[in-house]
Amino acid sequence: MRDDGGSGKETIFTLEATPLKYGPGASEEAGWEVARMGVGRVMLVSDPGVVEAGITPRIREYIEAEGIEVEVFERAHVEPTADSLQEAADFAVEGDFDGFVAVGGGTSIDTAKVSALIATHGGEIMDYVNAPVGDGRKPPGPLKPLLAIPTTAGTGAEATTVAILDVPEQRVKTGISHQFLRPKRGIVDPLLTLTMPPEVTSSCGLDVVCHAAESFLSKPYDARPKPESPDERPPYQGANPIADMWSGKALEYGGKYLRRAVADGEDVEARGAMMLGASLAGVGFGSAGVHIPHACAYPIAGLKHEYRPAGYPDDHPFVPHGWSVIVTAPAAFRFTYSAAPERHRRVAEMLTGERIENADEDTLPEILIRLMQDVGAPRGVRELGYDEEDIGDLVEGAMKQQRLLVGSPREVAEDDLAEILRASMENW
Ligand SMILES: [Fe+2]
Repeated sequence: MRDDGGSGKETIFTLEATPLKYGPGASEEAGWEVARMGVGRVMLVSDPGVVEAGITPRIREYIEAEGIEVEVFERAHVEPTADSLQEAADFAVEGDFDGFVAVGGGTSIDTAKVSALIATHGGEIMDYVNAPVGDGRKPPGPLKPLLAIPTTAGTGAEATTVAILDVPEQRVKTGISHQFLRPKRGIVDPLLTLTMPPEVTSSCGLDVVCHAAESFLSKPYDARPKPESPDERPPYQGANPIADMWSGKALEYGGKYLRRAVADGEDVEARGAMMLGASLAGVGFGSAGVHIPHACAYPIAGLKHEYRPAGYPDDHPFVPHGWSVIVTAPAAFRFTYSAAPERHRRVAEMLTGERIENADEDTLPEILIRLMQDVGAPRGVRELGYDEEDIGDLVEGAMKQQRLLVGSPREVAEDDLAEILRASMENW
């Protein structure tokens, strides 16, 4: 592109993607894919819901049919902690596996990433967790291979290099992030999502839309200072032309198909587009990065556990990830508008599939609010169990996510976050 002209700004960006196999019925080729990775003994990570739905046993059969040994670990937790991940990692170490398969939502895939990490390089979970919460140790080399098979259309975890975990003692959500955590391959099969309830579809789909919108609107990569060495280049690099393509397509799909996937779970075309959209957005945000709505989502999901979402197993109250993110998105993008009006207009256009001549700071927020209403999202932060008195705590929690907030196109201080959260109590 161009050199930095002596400004000390970044001139380089990277784009990496998981090789994906996509299409209705693609999961039937799981055994063939595992065999091709040269693996003879597999730890299959899943969660009880996906096992009960019959998906995990079916994938197991496909893999065993290739003469590969499979042991199932079905205790991936919805909100993984260092302890729950350590349990999976211990299983991985003791089982002496040479490869991993994840079948489930983001948490199953993240659990498998961490299991592969510890099984390959040893150590404890907290050694690798991002500093300052953990020691921030980098994996010294590639991990044993992981095949990721998502069963929700949301996190894009099959395409990303992070594993997210809750650290209840420090009241913070953080993660392990390194390019070696990226799964070796992914199989994206829309038929696996047909039974997903409308509420889950809504939350996951809105997460996809936010991944794509936040990435597209993130501070451009060449506005960052140049790192001292390639090792210090952050995983979230900021908006760049290639990430824009992936995010842009995901925005188109989200705007066009999410309503349909929520209204009719058996609409295979809509399910397929949302699932593909999740992977596309995963690649986009794996390069560019997410910022304000995701930073606010961590404390919204982490501080209170009172909300009981419909459509999810009611064993414990929690805020589904996508909903914790979308509730502050309208106010966040109203705040960031002045930093890049033209790009905000583009996001609004891609979501609606229409040309918008006269956009202002309310255009994109209003389009997002209409989408939220149409797919039954919560009205705002208040509905999730918070009121004005909680704003201080929520701001404090969001400020801990500096890793994300540095990607905001407009510099964001505590007062700004407080204003965004206040405006997000009720979006309509
Ligand atoms: Fe997300």
